[in-house]
Amino acid sequence: MEIKEISLKTEKYAQKSHFTLLPFGDLQVGSPLFSREVWDRYVGAVKGAQNPITIGMGDYSDHFRPSVQERLTSAIRGYDKESLRSIQDMHRDFIDKKVLPLLKPVIENSSCLGLLAGHHDMDYNNGTNSTQYLCDRLNIPYLGRGEALVRVNLCLSGTNPHKSLNFDIFATHGEGGGAAVGGAIRKLQTLLSHFDVDVILRGHSCDRFVFAEPRYSLTRTHPPRLRCKNRIIANTGGFSESRIEKVTTYVEQANMSPKAMGWVELHIRVKRDAKDGKTSRGTQYIDIWDK
Ligand SMILES: [Fe+2]
Repeated sequence: MEIKEISLKTEKYAQKSHFTLLPFGDLQVGSPLFSREVWDRYVGAVKGAQNPITIGMGDYSDHFRPSVQERLTSAIRGYDKESLRSIQDMHRDFIDKKVLPLLKPVIENSSCLGLLAGHHDMDYNNGTNSTQYLCDRLNIPYLGRGEALVRVNLCLSGTNPHKSLNFDIFATHGEGGGAAVGGAIRKLQTLLSHFDVDVILRGHSCDRFVFAEPRYSLTRTHPPRLRCKNRIIANTGGFSESRIEKVTTYVEQANMSPKAMGWVELHIRVKRDAKDGKTSRGTQYIDIWDK
């Protein structure tokens, strides 16, 4: 399990009490299923969002574009030894030319927490994989292939850095799915009962939903105040079609349920308890919801 702590300085933000988390994943660039149109809309949403924060949920590229697959097949059969030696360089070249240009505007216009690996990575013989290569090229953290716990500190300008507000994310690429959305919801609800985090994010299945579970508690102040915070479970959608004309895909061959393309947005707001008495300004806290 990967554990990261990331601090976002808010000096650069004009509006310091509203952040927007826009996870992305399941592009499968190189596959005919990838929708450039929906991806461009996502990039526009990141550019227009209030203090955007992004995180990669895995499966950014198809393992190989078709022309490379042909050469790989040839190499495996022993017909083309040169292809076998150069196959990893070709894959890195594909990442550089086809995937990086798509991700760069997202990284440049947001605070990116890092990238999770997925099912469509290529393992390189130096022990790394194609998602790690992407992270190196984009200079962002690698969040592993399993589960990642990420603490996000919001260092609000003008306040004590030791008192920064924070929220915790559990993020995983995911496994299984392709069936009714109810299975994904139950899976995330079960995870929520075992991890004391504010947000649980999952990719992979291309399901796209956000559910909030309200949690009531008393503040530590005297007198205690009633507070309600939402804990979020979200499956983060995707950018690949389920069916297209004249191409038979693994999605179709496996009779997987079609999923609408798109992404989810979570709004992180810094709030303050209602004023209590003449001197207290009320305690600041973070509230998260999709509206
Ligand atoms: Fe996947």
